Amino acid sequence: MNILIVYGTAEGQTQKIASFMANIFHENGHNVVTANATENPPTPEEFDAILIGSSIHLHKFKSSIKSYIKENLMGLNEKLTGFFSVSLAMASNNPEEHEAVKEITTSFLSKLNWKPKHIYHMAGALKFSKYDYLKKMTMRTIAKKERPGEEIDINLDYEYTDWKKVETQTLNFAESLQKLKLHEQT
Ligand SMILES: Cc1cc2nc3c(=O)[nH]c(=O)nc-3n(C[C@H](O)[C@H](O)[C@H](O)COP(=O)(O)O)c2cc1C
Repeated sequence: MNILIVYGTAEGQTQKIASFMANIFHENGHNVVTANATENPPTPEEFDAILIGSSIHLHKFKSSIKSYIKENLMGLNEKLTGFFSVSLAMASNNPEEHEAVKEITTSFLSKLNWKPKHIYHMAGALKFSKYDYLKKMTMRTIAKKERPGEEIDINLDYEYTDWKKVETQTLNFAESLQKLKLHEQT
């Protein structure tokens, strides 16, 4: 089946997650197109299922993803769809931080009037090598709050994405698509 993954990213982690998901779909016999929301991504029409992912910066999803959803709302609401968020908050041990991500997501999706069948939340990364000095300082302060007790060295990058969990989430989406197609055939 044909799956489209559209992602919005600033430092590349959401793109990395999208590629990882695409590989899993490939291994399971699907055709996959991955597209950056800023690079004229395809519309949903010719796909059986669409996954849209965005990282969170300053409590907001990428504006390119917002625009893509707005422009393709009708097409999206007719298909099997999923949304995935990528954030530092999901790397926190504090359940309140996870709740905050869920609230940002619920509010974002309901304002757009898009109802994806599946919503997944994923921990992202801290890429100090890609930040300017001010961002390094800000992100170190935030990281200390999100991950108390952890030594944060601004000369290193940190990846918190739980790839096993992403694999499970991807397989869950593939299974949902399989079930839908079987249902349509009967
Ligand atoms: C300037 C900046 C602001 C951020 N703001 C948030 C935030 O509000 N909440 C959060 O959970 N993570 C925040 N993060 C962490 C990002 O979501 C995380 O680094 C993610 O992996 C970025 O994914 P990307 O590389 O695909 O953009 C922020 C990161 C940066 C650099």
